[in-house]
Amino acid sequence: MNKEEINTKKLSENCSKIVTENFKITKDNKVLIFYDNVCPLSKIVADGYALACTELGFNFEVFNFYEFGGLDNPDLLDENHMVEFDDEKVKAKVEDLTAGDLVVLSQSSSFRMSKYRWRNLLHDLDLKVAEHAHMRMNDDSETNTYIESLNYDLPYYKKTAAFLREKIEKSKSIKLVSKSGKVIEFSGEMDKIYENAANFEGKKDWGSRFPVGEIFTESLDLSTVNGEFEIYAFPRLDHKTVLCEQFTCIVEGGFIVSHNGPKEFEELFKLLQAENPEGVCFIRELGMGMNRGIKRDTRLGDISSFERHQGVHFSLGMKHGIYRKKLIKQYGKKFYQRYHIDVFVDADQIIIDGVKVFQYGEGYLVKYSPWNTILNWFSKLFA
Ligand SMILES: [Fe+2]
Repeated sequence: MNKEEINTKKLSENCSKIVTENFKITKDNKVLIFYDNVCPLSKIVADGYALACTELGFNFEVFNFYEFGGLDNPDLLDENHMVEFDDEKVKAKVEDLTAGDLVVLSQSSSFRMSKYRWRNLLHDLDLKVAEHAHMRMNDDSETNTYIESLNYDLPYYKKTAAFLREKIEKSKSIKLVSKSGKVIEFSGEMDKIYENAANFEGKKDWGSRFPVGEIFTESLDLSTVNGEFEIYAFPRLDHKTVLCEQFTCIVEGGFIVSHNGPKEFEELFKLLQAENPEGVCFIRELGMGMNRGIKRDTRLGDISSFERHQGVHFSLGMKHGIYRKKLIKQYGKKFYQRYHIDVFVDADQIIIDGVKVFQYGEGYLVKYSPWNTILNWFSKLFA
């Protein structure tokens, strides 16, 4: 993609909103932007923040992480590089900041420091963190989609998430219906609901990975999921998203019992079955993407970015950092958990307790009444 074709104006507008609206940064703060030179997008996004800060008249500095001996891409980490690794200089830079300042990490994969955990170090210093990770997974032709995915949409996320949360919390049935009429149903109580919307109101740590726009949960009792669903995208073994011809999975008692997918999916399925003591592949996270900047057919190679697009994804496998404790009872404290693999589900409609809340092509059918939320809040308080 030519530099001219990249929508730099839109990018700087989006970065400007992230800095001022999500992170509430003002001229009294400082912004430190770290990038690397492993993939072009890392520098492009860093330039977007730099332009936004220039236009806002904000105090900022931009650094190539490698200048400090930082290392990118832990997958290819070579020990020789580790000898040169000196993270004290990076630490000194962030220690120069004041609580409430912003650090932007624009990463081809994920920055590592030898002695410090970035997130912990930055949050211990009460710094705010805007993180862009694994951007080298996106193709150059996907740059403008990535830029669109950074579109500021917090009021919509708040409204949609509140609407879905209210419905899911009291749901007895969540049905996902595919275009061809296949139905999978979550018929039990759902677990705690989480949001990725970069909404930091009332939060201690102001940090998020971008793009955002997702609400997720999973069944409290994993065995309460049954039916059939169709997959239209899944990751390859190198973690990149593949859009595929739709295929069907049959689910009984919470796990996939069969599928008619391609060889590449069968390879994943075998890995997922192999990590489970009973050889079964669980349906875990029920994720609902809310990001209107990414479309189902405008792929982002980075699966953790693509999962934010408007629609449904499941995570498969034993690993889910947030709901980890659930399986301890069944498999013991040190059970083997390696895989958390996101697959994308053709949900033409989402129906919660008989009410259609999502229609593909239209998005979430939000009927949100603040009054209902206040009533709900009171009824929980006095329950
Ligand atoms: Fe998710």
